[in-house]
Amino acid sequence: MITVKNVSKSYATARGDTDTVLTDINLTFEAGEFVCLLGPSGCGKTTLINLIAGFISPSKGELFINQKAITGPGPERGVVFQDPTLFPWLTAHQNVAFGLRQRRREDQYCAAKTSELLELVGMKRHANAYPHTLSGGMRQRIAIARVLALNPKVLLMDEPFCNLDINSREYLQDKLLEVWGSFKPTTIYVTHSVEEAVYLSDRVIIMGPAPRCIVDNHPIRLKRPRNRLSNNFNNVMTTLRISLDTLPCCLAPLEKRVKRNSHEIQNR
Ligand SMILES: Nc1ncnc2c1ncn2[C@@H]1O[C@H](COP(=O)(O)OP(=O)(O)OP(=O)(O)O)[C@@H](O)[C@H]1O
Ligand SMILES: [Mg+2]
Repeated sequence: MITVKNVSKSYATARGDTDTVLTDINLTFEAGEFVCLLGPSGCGKTTLINLIAGFISPSKGELFINQKAITGPGPERGVVFQDPTLFPWLTAHQNVAFGLRQRRREDQYCAAKTSELLELVGMKRHANAYPHTLSGGMRQRIAIARVLALNPKVLLMDEPFCNLDINSREYLQDKLLEVWGSFKPTTIYVTHSVEEAVYLSDRVIIMGPAPRCIVDNHPIRLKRPRNRLSNNFNNVMTTLRISLDTLPCCLAPLEKRVKRNSHEIQNR
């Protein structure tokens, strides 16, 4: 279980003062739960992922994994970033096998596990390719395979599929659910897609700008496999959209946007 207790996070700004991004957040993530974080750009989703990953420290409060305080990164947490970070001097296969070799797994196991994961993410044909010869979406799939190779107990994913075409994204969403179903990592997944959140998660947390950082905590009770075209699915999406509509947007004044969206909802 992951516990976020009274956590605030402020950053120093270029103006010389501080900007509080998260204010007094309290959250728990049960073991094996799949939770999506939704919310407008800049509200602190990546900051929360980085705090749980142990890459940054809270300005106030504490975070725990199974009652143990998080003081830095740990092997039980695997992170997939928005922008894939691969070792440029290693091939796709070597990148995926890297963590397994670090853990001194036998060569045979490394080779079999790496092939299995390259197959899973549709990259087996490119096993010997170097990252600079691959597209952004292909590099992201390698980064995902590299994290999954280590069977982390906690999977932190920050918009992992946002650079993929819709078919690949939906294919990988299903593969991710298969992997999640087989070893049940506690998964915290950031997305801007309401549809993706409803398709994947057990619970959606809607975040907003400080000081009201946690706006909604919404369990998704639809049976899996979920049907994106069903009425129930669309009803859940509408509920989440209404909740998101109360939040600011960096591109348009809130007043105009709410008017437009309530008009759209009325005319459904
Ligand atoms: N290292 C940093 N130093 C200073 N400010 C930062 C730093 N990292 C993030 N911020 C600021 O914190 C706020 C939240 O950023 P964060 O990346 O967590 O948002 P986000 O919800 O993930 O946004 P997006 O949906 O665009 O990815 C932003 O205003 C950002 O400028
Ligand atoms: Mg982010």
